[in-house]
This record gives sequence, C-alpha cells and structure tokens, in this order.
Amino acid sequence: MTASLEQQRAAPPPVVTRPEIELFDGNKEREPLPKYPILILGAGQGTGAEIAKRFAREGYPLILGTRSKEKFTRLREVIVRNGGLEPQPFIADITETAEIRKAYLSLQKEGTPLHYFPLAAGGLEATGRQVLDTIARMRIKLRKGTLTREDLENATAYFAELNATKSALKAAEDINLYGILEVMNALIENGNITPTSSILTLSSSLSHDADPDHPENYPGPEFYRLVALTKETGVRAVRKKAAIQGAAHVDLVAPEISGTDVGNLFEKTIPLLQHFLPTTLGSVTMDQVANAAYAELRERQEPRQRTVFVTETGTSDKRPQWSIGTPYL
Ligand SMILES: NC(=O)c1ccc[n+]([C@@H]2O[C@H](COP(=O)([O-])OP(=O)(O)OC[C@H]3O[C@@H](n4cnc5c(N)ncnc54)[C@H](OP(=O)(O)O)[C@@H]3O)[C@@H](O)[C@H]2O)c1
Repeated sequence: MTASLEQQRAAPPPVVTRPEIELFDGNKEREPLPKYPILILGAGQGTGAEIAKRFAREGYPLILGTRSKEKFTRLREVIVRNGGLEPQPFIADITETAEIRKAYLSLQKEGTPLHYFPLAAGGLEATGRQVLDTIARMRIKLRKGTLTREDLENATAYFAELNATKSALKAAEDINLYGILEVMNALIENGNITPTSSILTLSSSLSHDADPDHPENYPGPEFYRLVALTKETGVRAVRKKAAIQGAAHVDLVAPEISGTDVGNLFEKTIPLLQHFLPTTLGSVTMDQVANAAYAELRERQEPRQRTVFVTETGTSDKRPQWSIGTPYL
C-alpha cells in the first residue's frame, strides 16, 4: 500500500547512522583487508597505477587520486575492461587544500571506512632539470673514459647548492609530508580511518635509511636528499596517526623500481658511482611491488604497524644488502 502524500510528508526523515565497525567477529579471525574502498594517491602513473590495477583485480572498489582527469580516464578504462569495479576519481593537487576539499566532498564517503594508500610522491621537480643535465654530461665523460672523481665531487657540491634553496625544500615537503598528511587528516576527521582500515606507504630504500632526526647521516646521493628526508618524515607521521586510530600501517620498502621516472634516473646514476665505488642497489619491477603489496595486506595481520622490504622474490622482514655506498652525486 502506498502512503498518502500527507503521511509521506509527516514521516520522519531517514536516520543516517554510521556503519557498525566490527573489531572482533566472534571466534572468526579478523579479515586482514575488508573490501572497503581504497583511496590511492599517486594512482595516475607508475607504481601507484600498478597497485591500483592489482587491487581492482581482487574486487576492491577504488578511489583513484591524480591531478589529471585524462590519467584517471585511462586507468578507469583499463580497470573496467578487466572486470574491476567502477572507480571513483579523486582529482586534486594534494598541495592545494581547496582541491583536496573539493575532491573529498565529491566522494560522499563521510563516515564510511576506507583504506588509504598515500603513494603520491615528488620533490625533484624543483631541481630535476639541473640534475638530469649534470648527470647526462657525466655519462658522456664516462663513455669517453674521462670521468674523474673531481667531476663527481663538483656535481655533489652543485646539488647541495640546489638543495639549499627554499623552493627545493618546499617542493619536497609539500608533497611528501604536508600533502599526504592533509588528506589523512580529512579522512580521520570524517570517520574514514577505523581500526579495520589499512594504510600502505611505499618507501624507497634511501628514504627508509634517512633519519630526519639526523639529516647529516643521510647515506644516499645528494640530489635525492630532500626527497628522502621529507618522505621518511611523512611516513613516520602517517604511522603515528594510523596507530592513534588503531589502523594497520604497512610501509613497504623497495629499492629502485624499474620503469618509473625515479627508477630510470637511478639507473643512469649507478654506473657513474660504480666507476669509483662498490654500489649495489637492488631493482624490482612495478609488478613485483604491486604483488608484494597485495600479499602483505591480504594475508598478514600482525604486527599492526610494520615495515616490510620488497625483493625480487617477494617480501622480507629483514633489510636486504642494498648499498649505494656513496657520499657523491
Ligand atoms: N620509483 C622508484 O624507484 C621508487 C622506489 C621506492 C619507492 N617509491 C615510491 O613509490 C611511490 C610511487 O612512485 P613512482 O616512482 O612509481 O611514481 P611516480 O611515477 O613518481 O608518480 C608519482 C605520483 O605522484 C603523484 N603526485 C605528484 N605530485 C602530486 C601532487 N602535488 N598532487 C597529487 N599527486 C601528486 C603523481 O600524480 P599525477 O597523476 O597527478 O601526475 C604521480 O601519479 C612513491 O611513493 C615513491 O616514493 C618509488
């Protein structure tokens, strides 16, 4: 029987309740990664896009973070063509509060548990051209057999000068630290990060080895110093916030990832260093990282806050013997 117009008008508005979050489901083990939507920042390209495709294949609803509508559309097509669920866009430059706010509001996900994978990263933009040009010049010298240790020392001093500029520090901090935290704060304020949420970060072996409390001990090449230090600061802050919310946090630590922009830059740099010093930096593919991310989140539950290293054969709790062994570049 249909209600009369009067009855409908008199009916109380529907009560919107927050979903119940079950921490413990009787004797059943807690599901490591419930099928909540996953907000992936940095999903537009590189490893973030591979991780998005991997979780889409497993039936997770995705919210794809990128600054570019075109990149979203391209990835959306791949996901849907391969049987994944229709993803939602999160189109925002995460260094802009207004853009984060607009993208968040368009999701309409207040009070809904989410997983959060802040994989956006950057910071080399401010110095990138100069770094690339300098490395290209040294590679020519290496080919000609005229590369000297002094060339490496001069390049290192030049990169240190670039790093001392305010714009270089700002570019690295804005994205690796403030951007990912601002989105995380919005999620926390809106009840999206729950004790059953999982948070995934992806560190490089160099950022993992950088200690923001002792920046002078940073062990890697100078051109990557600010990225490494700000990234590690961001990951530590994400971990603290996750712990306060009772959410799981996995920091996957990968060496150079082949096929990415940063991976390509390191592939160009390593032969220069190896000319003078023993240098071994592992290399993994985006696929290997995506598989490791899924395996780690899907199967393991404890400890809730953990750091896991990605190797060519899977994941390991122990840091592999990666060594870039250089005070240069
Ligand atoms: N490459 C490596 O060798 C390596 C090694 C270990 C760990 N990692 C980590 O793995 C993750 C992915 O790295 P990658 O090298 O594969 O990716 P990438 O190609 O460098 O892509 C970075 C992503 O970050 C996003 N991004 C940058 N600035 C942004 C901003 N202001 N607002 C919103 N998004 C922004 C970009 O989004 P758009 O789509 O808008 O361009 C892009 O999708 C990063 O966390 C990185 O630190 C990389």
